[in-house]
Order: sequence, then C-alpha cells, then structure tokens
Amino acid sequence: MNILIINGPNLNLLGVREKSIYGNQSFDDYFKCLKDIFSDVSLSYFQSNSEGAIIDKLHEVGFSIDGIVLNAGAYTHTSLAIADAIAAINVPVVEVHISNVFKRETIRHHSFISSVCKGSIVGFGLDSYRLAVQSFHLLNEKS
Ligand code: DQA
Repeated sequence: MNILIINGPNLNLLGVREKSIYGNQSFDDYFKCLKDIFSDVSLSYFQSNSEGAIIDKLHEVGFSIDGIVLNAGAYTHTSLAIADAIAAINVPVVEVHISNVFKRETIRHHSFISSVCKGSIVGFGLDSYRLAVQSFHLLNEKS
C-alpha cells in the first residue's frame, strides 16, 4: 500500500511552533516512528507552505497511489481550490488535524475540505496521522 502524507502551511515548524498546541516533536522525527509502525506500508511525506504546490501534488499523485493523508493547516479553513482538487482526483483523502479544531476559535470550526474527504481525524496530537494511516488499512481490508 502506497500512502502519501501532505502537510500544509507552518507544519514544517512542528516541534518549534506553539508547543502547547502542537507538541514538542518535529514531523521528521514523528515520520520515522510512523515508518517503523507501518513497515508494511510505503509511506512518503510532502510539505509545502504554498497552496498551489499542495494542489499540484494532489494532481500528481491523485490517480495512482492508494491514499492521501492531508493536514492542510490553515488552508483547511480558507481553500475552495484545495477542496476542488480533492474532488477532482480519485485517490481517497483523509483529513487530519493535530489539535481539536472544534475546541479552538470559531474560524477553525469550518473546513472547506471535510465534505470531499473520506473522513476526518481531529485532536489526537501527532497520533492523528497514525490513526489516519490505520484507517487506510481498514479500508484496504474491507475491499
Ligand atoms: C491544524 C489546525 C489549523 O487550524 C491550523 O491552522 C494549523 C494546524 C492542526 O493540525 O491542528 O496550522 O491543521
């Protein structure tokens, strides 16, 4: 199984940025743990602070791999263009958020992308990514 994790803006600063919300660990360190946990999955990782680059990556992989785990960061709450890109591809996308966005400012309660994603995993810290990869295992077992 081939799964790509896409992280959006400011998520390159995990481990540095707002540690009380996002924790102490860098994504690179967490990604190594994920690769150990899912040694049977071909996991790769892409991060960009640019909306267009995220859309280009969705187009590039969106017809060929088995699943995409997407934390679109703040673009979640603003980007109809990313929602359109998800709707245009045929690879299932699972939306992920590290923090529980529903416990935060109301502007973070709305997601442009939830309705075009397979599902959403929110509020489990970095483990949200583990649960998202796990969800593709479940989908795979069912098909
Ligand atoms: C986030 C939540 C977003 O509201 C925020 O803009 C982020 C991170 C999360 O993972 O909790 O950058 O997507």
